Order: sequence, then structure tokens, then C-alpha cells
Amino acid sequence: MIIVGGSSSRDLAKEMASILDCTYIQAASTKFPDGECYTRIDTESLDDDVVIVQNTYPNDNLIEMFLLQDAVRRLGARSVTLVIPYFGYARQDRVFKPGEPESAKVMCRHLNMGCDRVITIDIHKEVVLDNFDCPHIDLKAAPVIADYFKDKKIDLVLSPDIGAAGRAKEVGERMGVPYDHLEKTRLSGTDVRIAPAEMDCTGKRVLIVDDMISTGGTIIAAASALREAGAVSVSVACTHGVFVNNAIERLTGSALDTVLCCNTLENEVSHISVASIIAEAVRKG
Ligand code: R5P
Repeated sequence: MIIVGGSSSRDLAKEMASILDCTYIQAASTKFPDGECYTRIDTESLDDDVVIVQNTYPNDNLIEMFLLQDAVRRLGARSVTLVIPYFGYARQDRVFKPGEPESAKVMCRHLNMGCDRVITIDIHKEVVLDNFDCPHIDLKAAPVIADYFKDKKIDLVLSPDIGAAGRAKEVGERMGVPYDHLEKTRLSGTDVRIAPAEMDCTGKRVLIVDDMISTGGTIIAAASALREAGAVSVSVACTHGVFVNNAIERLTGSALDTVLCCNTLENEVSHISVASIIAEAVRKG
């Protein structure tokens, strides 16, 4: 097996190769002066099962993924597995208003052309992956998040809304601490209203878990509601730290004590690694 790391996921891909004890090749990716993507896998041949690790967000990374798929086939890859730690456009999973595209489906159809298997992590809606013709699996980051916080003296695990209640349950059960969910109402793209958990938060050290943080609006509102409800500390851990518009700065300057995410998107707070769970899935085949 050979792991090819795209420019979005170098550290993660390298760590996976080390766990799997297999060859790692870093694709050399740059931009042409006009902004178009250029990538090259510097080897004579890839006569093996190849795993490409690359996000499809933001748009340039999606293009790089298409180019890498073509390059590995040309180099003779026997099979191609796409590991897409953060799947771009996954939230546009249906037509909300007439005249819109089904963006997530469009992405799957195009990525489908050069792969034999797809692995994602905590994709927004798993059903999106059914648009691939090949086998696919969506892995869960909950176990690595729970293991990271096991010794961090957490009293209560919460999700910001009922939709993510299963994640709080999985993390809470693995950590052996109670779990619950908050009630979230989205007011706009950046504003949300959060109602406190039914469970008593007074004097509790709370961990909020979510699939992603984008603007940070959800988590900032949740942290402030929990503080008002008497929580002594509030930490947050998400799978995908998208962090748009200086969200990390706004989150660290809010009622939160700790902000962490997994390394599906590599950034200054992506200290929880999903390499082991992806490596295990790749090994199982
Ligand atoms: C919503 O369904 C997701 O689980 C996240 O809670 C949401 O996408 C976070 O977005 P933001 O950080 O912009 O509030």
C-alpha cells in the first residue's frame, strides 16, 4: 500500500503511513501564476493499492483531489481509495429552494470517476455518500475525542442540538460521564439561540461536542448559556475546525476555556488525531 498525501492533509497522511508502516509520498502541489493548481507525484510508478488523503475544501483542494486521482491512475495504481477527512459541500445536501443544484451529489458524481473506495469522517449527512457507486464508509471521531478528554476532569458532555445528541452520548459513555443536549434555534447564518440543558450544570465542568465549528456562532452562544446556568468551565471539541472569519480568536476570547478539534482540517488547535481510526479502516479494506 502507498499513501499519497495531498496539500491539505500532509501531517495526517504521514501519521497514517507511519501507523500502517507503508510508503508515504507527499504530492508536490503549487499554483501557476494564474492561480490554477499544479500537482505532481514524484515517482516512476505506483503499482500498488494507493490511498489519497486530501480534503475537498476549499475549492482549490477539490481541484487538487481531481488532479491527484488522475495522476495516481496514470502511474499504474491497482486500486484507489480516497480518504476525504473533510468533505466540502456536504452541507448542501438537498435543494432548499427551486433552481439550486444538489451540490453534495455533484461532488460525489465527479469524485466517483477515479476511485474504488471512499472514506470520510463525520460527514454532515452520511446519506450523501450513497451517491458514490463504490464502497464507502463514514468514520466517527467520537472515540478519539473521548480518549483525549478522559483524564481532563469533565463532569458533563453536551451537544449543541438534538441532531448531535448521538455524538454526546457516544463520547459521554466512553468517558463514563453523563451526557445531554442543548436546544438550538438558528436565527441566521451567524446567529443562534441556545437554551440550557435540562441537566443541572451548576458547578460542572462541561465539554461540548459537535461535528464542526464554522463561524463559531453556535458554540459561543452555547458556552455563554452554560456559564449563565452555572457551569464552572466550558470546553469544546469538534471534528472539523472550519473556523471562518477569525473564529478561533473569537472562540478563545469567549466564555470557553478550551477549544480543540480533530486534524481533519489542520490548524493551530487540531490536536486530536483521527489517524488511528482511518488507518484501522484502511487496513481492514
Ligand atoms: C450544524 O448542524 C452543525 O452541527 C454545527 O453546529 C454548525 O454547522 C456550526 O456552525 P457555526 O460554527 O457557524 O455556528
